[in-house]
Amino acid sequence: MNTNKRFLSIIGLIIVSSVIFYFRRYYHLTVELSIRNIVPVVSNIPLKPTLSLPTSKDLLFLYEKEFSRLELTSFRPTFHNYHLTLKLNLTLFATDYFDYLKNCSTNSICNYKIICLQKNKTTNNSYSICDINLIFQVKILNSKEIQLTLLSSNSSYPITLENKSDIIIINIHKAFSIENIFHFTHQWSDLNHPLDIFWRSWPITTECIKSYLNQSLEITRIKSLPCSLTNILLHSGAKELFVAEQNAVSTWLDLQYEIFLNQRLPKQIHNRSLIPFEMAKNPNVCSNQFQKWIFDYQKWHENLTFYINNGSMTIEEQRKRIIEENVRFLIYEKHTSGIADRIIHLISTYLIALLTKRLFIFDKDWPEFTQIMQLSLNSDQKLIIPWIDQLGVLNKNFNSTDRNYLTSNSRWFSFDRFLQTYDYDKVFPERILIFKGHTGGVIQTLHSNSSIYRKFLTENLKMNTNNIFGCLYHSLFTYKLSELINRVPFNSSDPPIGHSSQFILQILLSPIFFPVGVQVRAGDETMNENNIDQSRLDTNPAEFIERYENYVVCTQQMISMNTKLFEKTNRTPIIFLLSDSYEIRIATLKLKQLSLECYKSSNKECRLDPNELHVLASPNPVFHVSLTKNRVLAFQLGMFDIFLFSLCQQHLISTESGFGRFSAFASLKQRNIYSLALREKKSCQNDGLPLSSVGYHWSGI
Ligand SMILES: *[C@@H]1O[C@H](CO)[C@@H](O)[C@H](O)[C@H]1NC(C)=O
Ligand SMILES: *[C@@H]1O[C@H](CO)[C@@H](O)[C@H](O)[C@H]1NC(C)=O
Ligand SMILES: *[C@@H]1O[C@H](CO)[C@@H](O)[C@H](O)[C@H]1NC(C)=O
Ligand SMILES: *[C@@H]1O[C@H](CO)[C@@H](O)[C@H](O)[C@H]1NC(C)=O
Ligand SMILES: *[C@@H]1O[C@H](CO)[C@@H](O)[C@H](O)[C@H]1NC(C)=O
Ligand SMILES: *[C@@H]1O[C@H](CO)[C@@H](O)[C@H](O)[C@H]1NC(C)=O
Ligand SMILES: *[C@@H]1O[C@H](CO)[C@@H](O)[C@H](O)[C@H]1NC(C)=O
Ligand SMILES: *[C@@H]1O[C@H](CO)[C@@H](O)[C@H](O)[C@H]1NC(C)=O
Ligand SMILES: *[C@@H]1O[C@H](CO)[C@@H](O)[C@H](O)[C@H]1NC(C)=O
Ligand SMILES: *[C@@H]1O[C@H](CO)[C@@H](O)[C@H](O)[C@H]1NC(C)=O
Ligand SMILES: *[C@@H]1O[C@H](CO)[C@@H](O)[C@H](O)[C@H]1NC(C)=O
Ligand SMILES: *[C@@H]1O[C@H](CO)[C@@H](O)[C@H](O)[C@H]1NC(C)=O
Repeated sequence: MNTNKRFLSIIGLIIVSSVIFYFRRYYHLTVELSIRNIVPVVSNIPLKPTLSLPTSKDLLFLYEKEFSRLELTSFRPTFHNYHLTLKLNLTLFATDYFDYLKNCSTNSICNYKIICLQKNKTTNNSYSICDINLIFQVKILNSKEIQLTLLSSNSSYPITLENKSDIIIINIHKAFSIENIFHFTHQWSDLNHPLDIFWRSWPITTECIKSYLNQSLEITRIKSLPCSLTNILLHSGAKELFVAEQNAVSTWLDLQYEIFLNQRLPKQIHNRSLIPFEMAKNPNVCSNQFQKWIFDYQKWHENLTFYINNGSMTIEEQRKRIIEENVRFLIYEKHTSGIADRIIHLISTYLIALLTKRLFIFDKDWPEFTQIMQLSLNSDQKLIIPWIDQLGVLNKNFNSTDRNYLTSNSRWFSFDRFLQTYDYDKVFPERILIFKGHTGGVIQTLHSNSSIYRKFLTENLKMNTNNIFGCLYHSLFTYKLSELINRVPFNSSDPPIGHSSQFILQILLSPIFFPVGVQVRAGDETMNENNIDQSRLDTNPAEFIERYENYVVCTQQMISMNTKLFEKTNRTPIIFLLSDSYEIRIATLKLKQLSLECYKSSNKECRLDPNELHVLASPNPVFHVSLTKNRVLAFQLGMFDIFLFSLCQQHLISTESGFGRFSAFASLKQRNIYSLALREKKSCQNDGLPLSSVGYHWSGI
């Protein structure tokens, strides 16, 4: 395919989505009153409230407020994947229940009781399933502060209680069927009456946010969204949580894009660009056959994880079911190195689990992943196979040839993964497999003539090297709304140099641009802030770019080759620069920064000089996940960069890195990419490299 055709076919894929809201009825909002005693509200009612219809900006502001509100909720129950968990934040408890605590603190001991109530759907009656008593030592520090220390607890139903710093997490030892509905009451000492407990549900649903479009609000006074306040707890499985996050993110992105539109005149009528997970829902991107395959696996996975461990089975009962149903497991273990190695190994392992119908189980030791990503599978090792560390004990009484013996194998993959093909069932007959590694074999599994899975993937599922990785990626996990809100603060001020994450996001969502993602991986040592030569950077930025001149030349060539196309489709090419090197980004921004001014002025159309490079980049340093002290932040920033990079239409990556490579595959743009090594002199006046070959470079895909 020639380049123009390729570009055009992709632009055809940019299917538009509705971002137009209608504002109609006006009415006042009276909220909060009914919940006063549960969620304290600071009221500062101005004398003359001015009411107006909310703008997209107001609504985004509500997301941020609601999110901080959520973090200020002292009681947060969840009913996820059959399990009921209650989380109490003692710091917030001390504030929310100050008066109660003061009253019962005469002897410094307070008894707090939570009653979990299950509703009978047919009769609407509620009955207690667990009474939990927590006994606190109360220390009044001053007129505002109280310190709570948990002394002891008991419960009418078996629970595990984690007591760490100011958080208490209570896990009820039972799996409940998904039809159950719960609510809760609590009581401070027998002197008070039990009160219903309210909390905030998250993420905010589209319906909740849209219900405000009709209403005339005094935004500054809204402390929280009443539609997210609840006292009823329903079940959510991994798949539902996954879908809820995606829908919430789509709505939030619509609002982000509207803000951008509203700043511009003449008003654009374009819908925003779809982001990769939205594209993945299109059967022209990820085939219907593929989607059904994933859907069936998810159903099977959900049923079996419950079937073999419903929370009230003995280990022997579990073993019996595992043997009877011949359940086999594939446990993913992350590598110690960077994000890219971990993720390509994750997707490769997931693919093998799908192909061999093994129960996919996630790493038990990577909490920051599930903190910012929602998995579509309930693959929690501790809930499904809590006995895994005691295999030796479990097998002790059986001969290794006995059918009750639980066989296992652990395997570390390196470059063999994309040089070889495996018949996984033959090579790994064991029931429990643990896969570790730092390489990817997805492209090899689909592409290689010797792969026994090739025919199934290409003919039955109608998948190819362009879409397989991205479709798998977006079926396994999704970026959470809470993380986007953390990374894209509302109304952040523009940095002196470079762009705010909000600005970058809005530009990347706008179909009037053609974002080209350029990743320059300069090396781990450049991530060390101590190595930054600020004075040279200030005086001679060109010197820093010189070393990466080949990337600049390549980008210019890619753009000039497609000038006609950009004219025809009315899109302006811009560069989104990703680099581990702070110096490269700052130096480039100093010389070629996309001007903010143009997009801020409300009365003129922006016209960028097509002969210049217009660079969009964050001015903030980045860290390496395995080399920094703040692993969690490093991971969060890394995944955000991946998210942004995957919004680009075209990619130029560093050959010696997996970071840009896997996000180009995850972008689902299904387009050739360009790849350069540091200082490699190579023309980009060509069609670039097909993903089928890029999938074999470096650590594979
Ligand atoms: C935007 O999306 C909506 C809903 O998908 C569609 O009806 C409308 O035509 C789109 N607008 C443009 C300008 O493409
Ligand atoms: C509990 O709430 C306090 C006050 O909002 C907060 O600072 C703290 O981080 C919370 N604890 C946890 C573990 O989230
Ligand atoms: C605290 O005790 C006083 C006096 O017994 C009572 O009037 C007040 O209602 C109590 N407050 C709470 C929050 O229970
Ligand atoms: C709900 O109530 C009905 C009628 O009393 C009873 O037959 C049924 O067993 C109850 N369901 C549960 C789950 O307790
Ligand atoms: C139970 O309560 C719900 C909601 O309040 C109501 O819609 C339903 O009709 C009630 N069912 C019975 C059997 O009372
Ligand atoms: C639990 O603790 C409360 C408060 O100390 C006490 O009244 C109750 O009898 C205890 N229940 C059990 C089952 O030990
Ligand atoms: C809970 O943790 C605190 C310290 O964070 C400790 O003082 C207290 O004894 C613990 N309580 C229980 C019941 O383990
Ligand atoms: C907004 O108001 C209209 C007209 O009164 C009503 O039909 C619609 O359901 C309302 N929408 C929401 C989301 O409340
Ligand atoms: C769940 O799996 C078990 C064991 O294979 C099977 O008997 C049962 O029919 C399955 N249930 C559903 C809803 O698929
Ligand atoms: C879990 O499985 C055990 C053993 O088959 C059974 O007795 C129990 O009722 C099941 N519990 C649930 C909630 O399905
Ligand atoms: C296990 O079983 C095999 C075949 O039945 C037998 O040859 C072997 O001696 C047994 N091993 C042990 C340790 O019992
Ligand atoms: C697979 O076989 C075909 C035809 O024999 C050949 O053209 C192609 O290059 C082979 N592909 C790979 C990846 O080896």
